[in-house]
Amino acid sequence: MDKHEIQYAIMNVEEFPTLPVIITKVIAVCENEESSAEDLAKVISFDQSITSRIIKLANSAYFGYLRKVNTLTKAVTILGFETIKSLSISASVFDTFKKIKSNYYFDRCQFWIHSIGVGVISKMIARKLNYNDIEVAFLNGLLHDIGKLFFESYYVTQYESVMKEVTVNRLFVKEAEEMVFGVMHSEVGGWLANRWKFHPELVYPIQYHHHLDKCPEEYLTLGCIVQLADRICREHHIGSGGDSLIPELDPLVYKTLNITDADIKEFRESVDKEKENIFTFMAIMD
Ligand SMILES: [Fe+2]
Ligand SMILES: [Fe+2]
Repeated sequence: MDKHEIQYAIMNVEEFPTLPVIITKVIAVCENEESSAEDLAKVISFDQSITSRIIKLANSAYFGYLRKVNTLTKAVTILGFETIKSLSISASVFDTFKKIKSNYYFDRCQFWIHSIGVGVISKMIARKLNYNDIEVAFLNGLLHDIGKLFFESYYVTQYESVMKEVTVNRLFVKEAEEMVFGVMHSEVGGWLANRWKFHPELVYPIQYHHHLDKCPEEYLTLGCIVQLADRICREHHIGSGGDSLIPELDPLVYKTLNITDADIKEFRESVDKEKENIFTFMAIMD
């Protein structure tokens, strides 16, 4: 299998996953400074499945508000545009892949718990480091391994060989992917994010979370946050992206985020407090 063949297919094959049109509209409304909460609510309300999940999340322990949130406009006012945008994208990615049959050799439930875990922990790290856009950190974490789901959905037999290599020869998933496809899930995830017309801040950190040295400088902080969150979730066995081995942290993570092992220890100790959020999010999205 050739890397360029896959890249071409992602950009051109119509059956490959497209996000609902409404997502492009949601992004546009959020980027327009003149938009009101009503404008955003109006666009989202065309999609019942996204609407109901946003309302459920707004009323859940995930956000912990005491007052009942019963309308979309109220949810937008309370949670803000960035959070609503991030929830809409999350819900639509779940819906898109839910329509595709899963395979026995890949545990999607564990995969989603891992993904949500990395999203929630990325957001926690971003908050602790006073990074200015915590929602974009969440989304990058949530979508970092989306390339795996793409492989599993559309290259069913080849991905079965990948997973066999992982168990039989004790390889990392990314190494086995490289062997079978000539490209790993991270790069493919970046291509998908591109196909979905996401902003580069939601393309490059996904694309280079295993190759931080190739990540453009502007997006490196996000890439490092995701790699660190991924490692922490593996150590804490929060879901699974298919690997049982845990890779070394790239030294760039320490340097770019300006952190020490003591900081990482502190992040690890905060994970337990986030677990409820991970499972609430999973229950509402799935
Ligand atoms: Fe990955
Ligand atoms: Fe991962």
